[in-house]
Amino acid sequence: MEQPNKNLALDLVRVTEAAALASARWLGKGQRKAGDQAGVDAMRFVFNSLDINGTIIIGEGEKDQAPMLYNGEKVGKGIGPEVDVAVDPVEGTNLLALGRPNAISVVGMAPKNTMFNPGPSFYMQKLVVPEEAKTVIDLNAPVSTNLTNIAKALGKDVDDLVVFVLDKPRHKKLIEEIRTAGARIQLHTDGDVAGALMAVDPSSEIDVMMGTGGTPEGVISACAIKALGGEMLARLDPQKKEEKKALQEQGFDLKRIYTVDNLVTSDDVFFAATGISGGTFLQGVKYTGDGAITHSLVIRGKTGTVRRIQSYHKWSKLMKISGIKYD
Ligand code: FBP
Repeated sequence: MEQPNKNLALDLVRVTEAAALASARWLGKGQRKAGDQAGVDAMRFVFNSLDINGTIIIGEGEKDQAPMLYNGEKVGKGIGPEVDVAVDPVEGTNLLALGRPNAISVVGMAPKNTMFNPGPSFYMQKLVVPEEAKTVIDLNAPVSTNLTNIAKALGKDVDDLVVFVLDKPRHKKLIEEIRTAGARIQLHTDGDVAGALMAVDPSSEIDVMMGTGGTPEGVISACAIKALGGEMLARLDPQKKEEKKALQEQGFDLKRIYTVDNLVTSDDVFFAATGISGGTFLQGVKYTGDGAITHSLVIRGKTGTVRRIQSYHKWSKLMKISGIKYD
């Protein structure tokens, strides 16, 4: 028997709430960078109040381009557990700038040296399914074979399935193949972390996520899937010659298929997400005049506990102590 120990995800949710509260001010204002920066500043501020000794593995990019939350940056007070940290203060910066649904703030955390470091990889092919279909998927199999097997495992017909796909030119063939197989499609311009979460969430209408999206987003999604159940198969999928060359030079195997367990090797994983713009998956920030309401998802891998937290933030108290201006 183990004594229950600290659920760090309950600390992490304060970090994603802060990023959401600050960035949602930029909803629909057409300013990607400003929205992202607001999220970054608030996230970093709250991160550094936590009793962790964290290193950012998935951050805003290399130090030169990212003044804060850059890969390799230390976060937390430097005391407590040594952890790998994956952050995306605003996952779906375009969604936020254009006021579209499903921009979310996300953080994943796992013990030191247990998170896959994507190095120079920007893009990854992903296939995400719920727990029941975990063992029937194969990234080398045709789309129609995967859909037939997934439908069978879920006790559905192929035309019952809804597949989340990013609406990108690179997915023209994939979309045709899904349509030919008879499954239905939800096309989203951005936000495949939300897509992956919806694919493994039994209460969502999405059954599967297919296609190529960001590698960092893949590792963040793996933190959540690891705790929620389900599977993601992934393969590095460089979209430009330079990306491919850099990966080959650093010895990455472009044929290797990664599972969630390869991307995050520990079960002691924590994940938090807070809705920014609203949408089917997580409601967005609602400013109430004297405060705000946020909706978050908090997950702990070791216990598998999933919490949905609705928080009421009160400016009259918060603004007296906060270093970030949310009101
Ligand atoms: P950002 O928030 O960094 O803009 O990412 C949004 C996103 O849609 C991700 O969800 C996805 O993994 C990636 O971009 C896809 O990249 P691209 O838009 O270049 O195809």
